[in-house]
Amino acid sequence: MEVRFFYYNKDIMTANELRQKYLDFFKAKGHSEIPSASLIPENDPTVLFTTAGMHPLVPYLMGEKHPAGNRLTSAQKCVRTGDIDEVGDATHHTFFEMLGNWSLGDYFKEEAIKMSWEFLTSPEWLNLDKNKIAISIFKGDGDSPKDEEAKKIWLEFGIPAARIAELGKDDNWWGPAGQTGPCGPDTEMFYWAGKEKAPAKFDPKDKRWVESWNDVFMQYDKTKDGRFKPLAQKNVDTGMGLERTLAVINGFDDNYRTELFWPIIEQIKKLSGKEYEGNEKPMRIIADHIKAATMILGDDRGVAPSNTGAGYVLRRLIRRAVRYGKQLDITQNFTSELTKSIIKIYQEVYPEVEENKKFIFDELNKEEEKFRQTLEKGEKMFAKFSQDRQISGSEAFILFSTYGFPLELTQELAQEQGYEVKVTEFEEEMEKHAELSKTASAGMFKGGLADASEETKRLHTAAHLMLEALRRVLGPHIQQKGSNITPERLRFDVSHPEKITPEQIKQIEEIVNEQIKADLPVHWEEMPVAKAKEIGATGVFEHKYGEQVKVYFVGDPASGTGQVFSKEICGGPHVSHTGELAGKFKITKEESSSAGVRRIKAILQ
Ligand code: ALA
Repeated sequence: MEVRFFYYNKDIMTANELRQKYLDFFKAKGHSEIPSASLIPENDPTVLFTTAGMHPLVPYLMGEKHPAGNRLTSAQKCVRTGDIDEVGDATHHTFFEMLGNWSLGDYFKEEAIKMSWEFLTSPEWLNLDKNKIAISIFKGDGDSPKDEEAKKIWLEFGIPAARIAELGKDDNWWGPAGQTGPCGPDTEMFYWAGKEKAPAKFDPKDKRWVESWNDVFMQYDKTKDGRFKPLAQKNVDTGMGLERTLAVINGFDDNYRTELFWPIIEQIKKLSGKEYEGNEKPMRIIADHIKAATMILGDDRGVAPSNTGAGYVLRRLIRRAVRYGKQLDITQNFTSELTKSIIKIYQEVYPEVEENKKFIFDELNKEEEKFRQTLEKGEKMFAKFSQDRQISGSEAFILFSTYGFPLELTQELAQEQGYEVKVTEFEEEMEKHAELSKTASAGMFKGGLADASEETKRLHTAAHLMLEALRRVLGPHIQQKGSNITPERLRFDVSHPEKITPEQIKQIEEIVNEQIKADLPVHWEEMPVAKAKEIGATGVFEHKYGEQVKVYFVGDPASGTGQVFSKEICGGPHVSHTGELAGKFKITKEESSSAGVRRIKAILQ
């Protein structure tokens, strides 16, 4: 594509202009501007980073009064790592800015969509070509009906029906990352970035349709037990991706060509002596990751690289960028060098990056230096390990513990060569080492059920209830990392990046105790692994394909209780009714076990 020079071109809208236009538009519509909250959330243990403009607003979406009123607008710094594998294409980023407007129980669907349309298409505002806009709406399911109202409004604006896609919860539903809380159907706006004429029919899978704005109609509160309770106060939560929108309105089909990235790419070109064309992927990943690292370090609540939580994500971003730098033959330390152009891009809007530049610079240098010292040796070791075209769990563990290769890095290297890392084996290895260092004097460790007495059976069933409760309270990322049950207590390790708060512990205990009180039936069925996967059973899927496994169900629709509470692949044994647990479930201890793993001890009183 032709390269346009935004530095001199008067037709180009700058990021500052776009941001300001958005805020001005919504201020003119009676909204108060609120400042960006920190990237590292305060008082929210469910996420490591602020991932959307609505994050800092959750209490107000739940009905608390916001001091600035019930119409708000902001530009919010965000970090999302869920799509990290897609970074390297033209439109995905880990750090991005979200422009948003909110109605806290004030206007709802019709007015929200009207305002979005006016901002996008009015000659006074973005003046976008109406013939390049496509829409998606929620198609409806058992929890909530199809969003006919949104569809009707878009049709009235002249969007042809073929340009309105109707999609399910995966695409057109939004709620906060922490599972429970305010949520609802949404409608998304896409803009055609292709060079060809926009097709008459909207295909959401065609990447040339760039998703740029999302209007969420928050009308439900998702409860702990998975129900959707109508909210007393209906809210609107919207989010427009600044980088994507800036690219499409300026006619770029690559976000990295905009002024929010191009100066960083220019620096990478200089450092590597290579052209962008042909090296897009590594250059984009480096620009994206070091920008995210700079913003995380430069935040007022900034963190340093470490082995847990946000610090670990930061470490992974930096190390990944360094490795891609090596692919481009950059041999000297370069990450701190890149911060110069990044700080220049953001210092006017986020002055904290300029104020914290020494910290950013020093931490990047330290981390890069440390990693470089072992990177080469680690890569040699990797090559040696992979001669047999596989990486075993213990090899991945050596790369992690001795050479500082995060598991994801080893996986990526293996993937490039077309094979996989034995992840479960790696995790077992991690667990073993955590075990050895912690319980060296505590006698032999036995995995699983050490003793099949009645007490351990009861605690074993309690462990199934707890695993499901953990997933409901903390999120679907929760995986069992090991368990050990004695007649006195159960001990259970789970993947979770941070401390489980007393409040969450209370919720987990309550959910488990509710299931005990409900006296749910417990039964098991045998089925092939693929079927177990299909019905959403949790557990370890390392069985051979086609092999039969036992799945334990707590709660059984056939027995008239109407709901399955948990499904887990397991060998047993278990009680036959949860009422047999006959006691109060109580978590007695919660502590760190190893990086990203929490250890829980619990009893039945
Ligand atoms: N919170 C909504 C989103 O992130 C607007 O898409």
